[in-house]
Formats: sequence, structure tokens, C-alpha cells
Amino acid sequence: MARAFRKNVVHGLMVAGAATGLLAAGPALAYDWQSLPESVEAPQDNPTTEAKVELGKKLYFDPRLSETGTVSCNTCHNIREGGDDGRPSSMGVHGRVGPRNAPTVWNSAFMSTQFWDGRADSLEEQAKGPLLAHPEMGMPSHDKVMERVKEVPGYRQAFNKVFDGENPVTIDNAVKAIAAFERTLITPNSPYDHYVEGKKDALTEQQVRGMKTFNQVGCTSCHSGAAFNGPQPSMPSGQGFFRKFPTFMDSKYVEKYNLAEDPGRYKVTKKEGDKHMFKVPTLRNVELTAPYFHNGAVESLSEAVRVMGKVQLNRDLSDKQVADIVAFLKSLTGEFPEITMPRLPSKPGETLVDGA
Ligand code: HEM
Ligand code: HEM
Repeated sequence: MARAFRKNVVHGLMVAGAATGLLAAGPALAYDWQSLPESVEAPQDNPTTEAKVELGKKLYFDPRLSETGTVSCNTCHNIREGGDDGRPSSMGVHGRVGPRNAPTVWNSAFMSTQFWDGRADSLEEQAKGPLLAHPEMGMPSHDKVMERVKEVPGYRQAFNKVFDGENPVTIDNAVKAIAAFERTLITPNSPYDHYVEGKKDALTEQQVRGMKTFNQVGCTSCHSGAAFNGPQPSMPSGQGFFRKFPTFMDSKYVEKYNLAEDPGRYKVTKKEGDKHMFKVPTLRNVELTAPYFHNGAVESLSEAVRVMGKVQLNRDLSDKQVADIVAFLKSLTGEFPEITMPRLPSKPGETLVDGA
């Protein structure tokens, strides 16, 4: 690991205040601000190698893994941009539209669990879902996906190079490669990271004020840790950090943005207590991932902040507080690694899609 989770500048705001005179933050605002590591540990059964990441990248960008040959992971999680698709809910094969907003894949390696309702514990398990999901890539079975892959000589060679065993072109190995690639999608070195590492001029005065407000009004009670999605790293992947959303159901925003329709984690567990429980999402790069919330109902970041204040904390944030928090959230936009577009191995002869 190039850089471990740092417990930086505990009481960062106090230090900032003392150093810059921007804040008069008292001990009550002491908070463990953490910067984003540059890498993440891979699970023991899926060590990251360069060749595996390259294979995973090809699969990630390959639309031939979808029923119509038109939809790749990157269609809905566009890593040339914010890692999402900018739509309220995604559009997959045959123009089918699903019920939920596509979360970003940038920094998904730091998520406490995968999907809004935490129905997958790992990136490996998650990647099996979209290949078969009706409104996403719509393939009839994982066997059919792997038949497509096996027909491409370059893929057979790549799987043989990366994985052991006589027949390594398996779905389990395909999702291992995709997950290994996803573990490289990390965006460190945002202005916020520089700030908590000690560069006091990395944030504007307004951003520092927003940082203080973000803590003071209670956002950090849920959006904590280096990725602002829960108490990391004490919570390894697989132990989801869920909170009820909306917590205050009588807010006018609940009806306006239809926030209570989706029962969230209840769909997975059928437990009464899991009704409207959603994974706390990361706020890294959040300025790039509009529209917001699991149904993508809110278009602007400032409205999302206002809604959060009301439905999670029962607070009417002032225009100034909202503007300051938004300015702070913009400081969470990190450095995006250069990713070269992969050349996909061709299948000679025949048409790509059965019956097309
Ligand atoms: C969720 C990766 C294909 C739409 C996710 C998540 C990951 C991911 C890591 C969870 C993120 C989080 O919870 O923070 C992938 C990969 C794909 C793929 C590796 C290719 C194998 C697609 C496609 C679409 C799509 C093609 C759109 C047609 C979505 C949506 C969710 C999601 C809507 C949220 C669903 C829910 O939580 O119920 N994806 N994705 N994904 N993805 Fe994908
Ligand atoms: C979602 C900001 C307080 C739990 C979000 C989103 C933003 C945000 C911008 C949308 C992310 C996206 O769609 O990608 C804030 C701010 C807060 C705050 C600025 C303080 C004013 C809280 C608190 C909790 C919480 C206190 C827990 C009680 C969640 C959850 C979601 C979320 C569960 C996902 C909601 C969904 O299902 O769509 N937050 N948040 N947040 N936040 Fe907060």
C-alpha cells in the first residue's frame, strides 16, 4: 500500500484556525479528518497484478458482454467523467431504464458495501449483477457471457496468462479481473486532502468555513472517514454502513422528490427495520455526479445539501450554510489517474451478436 489511511490533523479545524486565523473553532469541533489513500488492499484471493488490471479494463470497456453488444460497464459508469452516467436512472440494453441512479465507480474500492441497498459484499460479487440485470446488460446467463468471451482468441490468451488452471475463462475470473481494475480507480490529492495533510492554502476561506459547517451541523455523523461514506477503515468492505433515508419523513422534500417510494435495504433482507435503509454513499467527486440520491431526483448539489439538512438532520440550512458546504464538497474532487483506452481483442469472422 503506497499510503495507509492517515489520521491526519486530528482537530484539523482547530489547527487550521490557529494557523490561518480563519476559524474560531473550539474543541467541540475536533474531528478526525482523513485523506484518501493512493491505493487499496486487494483481497487475499484476488491479488492485483498488472496483467489482471489490463484484462479487467478490457472487459470493463467491452460492450460485447451485453445482450445487444452495445452496453459496457463504462456506458453507465463513464470513467472519462464522474464514473456515472449523468442520468436520474440508467439506460441499458434495448433502451430499458432501471429504477435507480448509477453510483460512481471512482473510489468504489472504499465502499463499505456495494449497491445502494448493499446487496453485494465485494466488487467481485457486484460485477456479476449488471451482466444479467434486465435493464442493464441483459445477458441470459453467466455461461452465455463467457461463451462470448471464449469466442475471442485474444481473451482466451489473456485469461490463460493471468489465471491458473486448465480452463481459466470463467465468470469468477472475469469478475476478479474487473474488480482488480476497479481497485485502481482512486482519486487522491484533492484540495481537501492537501489541506488535511498540512497545506493550509489548499482551501479557500469559504471552503474551510464549509468544512466546519459540515461537521458542526452533523453531516460527519454519517459521512465520515476518508471517503465520507462511514467510519472507515474500521469497517472493511462487506460490512455496510446503512442509515435511514429519509430519517424525517414529514419533510416537504420527501413527497417533492419521491424519496420514500424505494424501501432500500428492506428489498434485500425483508426485515422491517431495514425499510428505507440506504448505504451512505461517498461524497468524493460529488460535484461531478449529479443528479443525486438513489432515484436521481435532485439535480443540483446545493439542493441535495439543503434536502440532506432537512430530511436527515431536521435543519433548515441557510443559503450561506448551503453555499459554504457546497464549496467544501467541491474541494473533494481529486486527481484522476490517466487511463489509456484499451484495444479490445477482435473476434474474426461472424457477426458479433447472435441473431443480429
Ligand atoms: C451499481 C460496477 C454495469 C448501472 C454499481 C456499483 C458498482 C458497479 C461497483 C456499486 C457502486 C456503489 O454501490 O457505490 C459496474 C460494473 C459493470 C456495471 C463493473 C459492468 C460489469 C452497469 C451498467 C449499468 C449500471 C451497464 C446501466 C445500464 C448501475 C446502477 C447501480 C450500479 C443503476 C445502482 C443499482 C442499485 O444500487 O440498485 N455498478 N456496473 N451498471 N450500476 Fe453498475
Ligand atoms: C446522500 C450530503 C447528512 C446519510 C447524500 C448526498 C449528498 C449528501 C450530497 C447525495 C450523494 C449522491 O447522490 O451521490 C450530506 C450533507 C449532510 C448530510 C451535506 C449534512 C447537511 C447526512 C446524515 C446522514 C446521511 C446526517 C445519516 C443520518 C446519507 C444517505 C445518503 C446520503 C443514507 C443516500 C441517500 C439515498 O438513498 O439516496 N448526502 N449528507 N447524510 N446521505 Fe448525506
